[in-house]
Amino acid sequence: MITKDTMNRNRKILIVEDDRQVTKMMKLLLSKEGYDIDTSTNGHDAIEMFNNERPDLVITDVKMPMMNGLDLARRLLAISKDVPIIIVTAFGTVKDAVEAIKLGASNYITKPISTQELKLTVKNVFEKQELVTELNTLRKELKKNYRLGDIIGKHHHMQELYDLILTISSTNSNVLITGETGTGKELVARSIHFSGPRQKNHFVPIAALPESILESELFGYEKGAFTGAIKCKIGKFEFANGGTIFFDEIGDIPLTTQVKLLRIIQERKFERLGGNETISIDVRIIAATHKDLEKMIEEGKFREDLYYRLNVIPIKIPSLRERKEDIPLLIEHFVKKYSMANDKKIKTLSQDVLNALISYDWPGNVRELQNIIERLVVMARNDEITTGDLIKTPLVTPNSNINTVVNDSNEMLDIDLKEFTDNCEKEYIKTILTKNKGRIETSAECLKVGTKTLYRKMKKYNIKKDDFRESEGLHKNI
Ligand SMILES: Nc1ncnc2c1ncn2[C@@H]1O[C@H](COP(=O)(O)OP(=O)(O)OP(=O)(O)O)[C@@H](O)[C@H]1O
Ligand SMILES: [Mg+2]
Repeated sequence: MITKDTMNRNRKILIVEDDRQVTKMMKLLLSKEGYDIDTSTNGHDAIEMFNNERPDLVITDVKMPMMNGLDLARRLLAISKDVPIIIVTAFGTVKDAVEAIKLGASNYITKPISTQELKLTVKNVFEKQELVTELNTLRKELKKNYRLGDIIGKHHHMQELYDLILTISSTNSNVLITGETGTGKELVARSIHFSGPRQKNHFVPIAALPESILESELFGYEKGAFTGAIKCKIGKFEFANGGTIFFDEIGDIPLTTQVKLLRIIQERKFERLGGNETISIDVRIIAATHKDLEKMIEEGKFREDLYYRLNVIPIKIPSLRERKEDIPLLIEHFVKKYSMANDKKIKTLSQDVLNALISYDWPGNVRELQNIIERLVVMARNDEITTGDLIKTPLVTPNSNINTVVNDSNEMLDIDLKEFTDNCEKEYIKTILTKNKGRIETSAECLKVGTKTLYRKMKKYNIKKDDFRESEGLHKNI
């Protein structure tokens, strides 16, 4: 079992203090926490010990004979910036504390030293240092592998995105992610949550919810708040306390709910529906949209004040066609993933297929590429995917033209027209359903057919509405 004692053992702290009583007290207290303690009564000895022993942390008093603590900190920081320093200042000398922080000290405590404050400050400094080390390791790792967790991409915009994610993951600022459908907005939101200290608590995605239940889902309700509220229920905000709430499509939130969101952002407080008790929460809000919110503001459909509150850290994810160099990398990743999942041994894709996939413009972005690769892998009969396989898994979306995709092919097209058009129709319906998250009426409108026709065709091609309903993922995640 890992106890604080075993966790802190091997962490060496050098205490520099001329008052032996204070040194004794600090040594006793920090030894109890499991740290190894060295002590020194003046700056000159401390520098020598620092060079010989290289401690993990230095705690130094400011007022000392020969060399004061600020000069010592300056000298130590010149030797190494990697060792954190805590300065102990006399009560009421804010000036020293400010100067110490400006110099590069990690933190300060004031005399008389409170045991609790000392323990906590040391713990915080080590935690922060661990985070920085982790961050640097991650940065090196992603430069090697062109990935950050599940996000793949080597385009310079993606590399900048990784840096941004790592930088903001330890902050609490709200984030607004924009980008076309399927570019990875949710993936980025998850990555921000899971790269920082909020990972200990929940990541709660809010997908498209009917307006009638949106507020009770978000804020929860008290027993008897409305017909059917037979017991009290906590909402997503309470569930996300200490963690992150992610609005998958913030542009869909009705104006009345926008007002309530604004209050939560400003005051970090809300009430359950039908409740009087004000509940305080600490939740980071990440919102995403593929809509033009500024245009919605002009049209009076989105509150300007909410927009500015959410858009503290804007992240724009580029479309896949703007970073085509990432396509081969993503293909390799998805081929491996789906080969493993389907127990297949796909080794390569023919050059024709690769060319076709690179020249396609991917209106459904990474999600569309992922779907195509999954189908190609499932359907492949050999260990190489060839143009023949691609013809049977056509790329069909509103903006695509199958001919541009396969015209490099010199293989015989061994598929009849009926099968081909059926395939096209099926894929097109699936793309539209994906885009509309399984909403039948909106999808039928896009396809310019009635809902009955759409249901009939879905039945014919064995397409299940539930496969496209992302809101169900919400329950899986919490
Ligand atoms: N850079 C990437 N690397 C690997 N997988 C990715 C990448 N971008 C997206 N994906 C995958 O593509 C799919 C769609 O991603 P995600 O749901 O995050 O997109 P989105 O932008 O939120 O889409 P929508 O606007 O439709 O909600 C997911 O399965 C995700 O894992
Ligand atoms: Mg999404």
